[in-house]
Amino acid sequence: MLVRTRVNGEWREADVWPGASLLSMLRDDLGLLGTKNACEQGECGSCSAWLDGEVVCSCLVLAAQAEGREVRTVEDLADGDRLHPVQQAFLDAGAVQCGFCTPGMVVAATDLLERDPDPSDEAVREALSGNLCRCTGYQKIVDAVRLAASRAGGGA
Ligand code: FES
Ligand code: FES
Repeated sequence: MLVRTRVNGEWREADVWPGASLLSMLRDDLGLLGTKNACEQGECGSCSAWLDGEVVCSCLVLAAQAEGREVRTVEDLADGDRLHPVQQAFLDAGAVQCGFCTPGMVVAATDLLERDPDPSDEAVREALSGNLCRCTGYQKIVDAVRLAASRAGGGA
């Protein structure tokens, strides 16, 4: 079936099987490999992307459900070679180890900061609670979100 979706501001088409997930359409059909595939069960958050402005686990959404809708992926964040402030903060705070969870974490963190520019640590942990990281122990990720917030004029 043909699915037509606006992805990162551009209308894209993909010919997918009816059971295909949005995650597989993004990765396998549209070549957007920033959105990661780890569990395919809605458990890890590595496949996080925005659908009509709301963060979803793209492994749990059918590609067909994205027909005519707006999808935003981690690729939308950087401006050419210039990293998005949240991406830069992750690097600067040492919040990236193997990096597999990082795109999903960055999506979740960006979504939070777009809604709440000065979140408490609790709010940060709550916002990232659907994203699993096997490497960092999470503290540096929370530090990165706080760093991004402080650079944007939010919290310290
Ligand atoms: S791959 Fe979608 S939640 Fe893990
Ligand atoms: S940095 Fe390796 S899973 Fe998070």
